[in-house]
Amino acid sequence: MAESVAFSKTADRATVYAELAPQIEALIADETDLIANLANVAAVLKEAFGFFWVGFYLKKGDQLVLGPFQGPLACTRIDFGSGVCGHAYSSRETVIVPNVDEFPGHIACSSASRSEIVVPMFDAGGEVFGVLDVDSDKLSDFSEIDADHLERIVGLISRLPSNPSE
Ligand code: SME
Repeated sequence: MAESVAFSKTADRATVYAELAPQIEALIADETDLIANLANVAAVLKEAFGFFWVGFYLKKGDQLVLGPFQGPLACTRIDFGSGVCGHAYSSRETVIVPNVDEFPGHIACSSASRSEIVVPMFDAGGEVFGVLDVDSDKLSDFSEIDADHLERIVGLISRLPSNPSE
């Protein structure tokens, strides 16, 4: 397994995502444990982009429960439909929030978080088994570029045999 990822320090975000994608694919290809792979993906995204918080919430019973993450401590449980994560889970769509203060029901784990993107993760049966949540301390820090690439990264994880439905 590679011990580190390589990426251009000064490139735009799309370029860095493109550089990271094959490395993430290789990183998770030989590991079947979901939690181990989520932990490494969170670490890579945090290192490459310096996001304020990067992590996963996983469906457990009728809630989303905190999974592997990088960043300050976070809320452990989120109800379906609640906050940005619960909304992405219930709507089954990526949600970009340019200003968290303007999102009704936003769950403020940290007052430093200003904008965020949440991407649902689908199992082989098409059910959402968790979400990727990325938070920034800058307003309007996420665009369709992030949505596109993060959906692809999450798709790599969802394809693995260790995801919950398999
Ligand atoms: N902001 C999220 C809660 C999780 S934390 O930001 C880590 C939300 O409203 O769903």
